[in-house]
Amino acid sequence: MLQIEDLYVEVAGRPLLKNISLTVEQGETTILFGPNGAGKSALLSTIMGFSNYKVTSGKIFFKGKDITEAPIDERSKMGIGIMSQRPPNIAGVKLRDLLEIETAGKPQTQNLNEMARAIDMERFLERDINVGFSGGEIKRSELLQLSIQRPDFYLLDEPESGVDPVNMAQVGNMIKKLICDKKACTPNDPSRKSALVITHTGEILNYLAADKAYILCNGTVMCSGNPNRLLYEIKTQGYEKCVGCKSGDLIQL
Ligand SMILES: Nc1ncnc2c1ncn2[C@@H]1O[C@H](COP(=O)(O)OP(=O)(O)OP(=O)(O)O)[C@@H](O)[C@H]1O
Ligand SMILES: [Mg+2]
Repeated sequence: MLQIEDLYVEVAGRPLLKNISLTVEQGETTILFGPNGAGKSALLSTIMGFSNYKVTSGKIFFKGKDITEAPIDERSKMGIGIMSQRPPNIAGVKLRDLLEIETAGKPQTQNLNEMARAIDMERFLERDINVGFSGGEIKRSELLQLSIQRPDFYLLDEPESGVDPVNMAQVGNMIKKLICDKKACTPNDPSRKSALVITHTGEILNYLAADKAYILCNGTVMCSGNPNRLLYEIKTQGYEKCVGCKSGDLIQL
């Protein structure tokens, strides 16, 4: 579904990501761990195609097509959707306006108000996008947008951050349902969507069956392995083991 080959990225004229190679197969949920400032959000922004992240070498393939130079709208139409860590405020544009553009021409089983009500966002439809939204409200707004967009590939940047424990169950279950809308979703289920998910706490792993994980340190992928195992290593030993790896050498922790 997604294949990144030896990617180097600059931001604001400075090298940020280097020597990144990773894959996310069809129907796979992949976790991205890494310390603050490692470049995780930058990697997701680069995959989505935000213009301030400049690919200087390497390739990004999505559904077998080279999208390294593709504009953001083309990537979105191909089926990539993102829940950003810090989406922008868009003063003067109501959430309803954006969602109506997204719903246009798409068959929806529920109307917009019903979908917003399901995630307790109905009263936000007439508000300017993200303006004055709390941390948790921003997450729910992003999730509502994704539930209408229904991408094939989900980029989720810290879906649990800022979300209180009660709302976490709602957010976690909704993400789970978006990725696979079945009671028991097997790894090989063809309807299962793909995802690349950033998490620090691993709380989202209570809701998602993650297949593998990578650790990003200092702008490069250093380790890969079982998500719960890597999380345990991080929680007990910090990122030291990972930082000790030679750049580009994948080790199975
Ligand atoms: N547009 C930008 N202009 C200048 N520096 C940037 C820009 N975007 C990212 N950076 C820098 O690149 C580094 C990586 O940022 P990024 O947001 O990807 O970190 P992260 O791994 O997501 O961290 P966190 O866990 O804190 O969210 C940081 O030092 C950040 O300040
Ligand atoms: Mg980040």
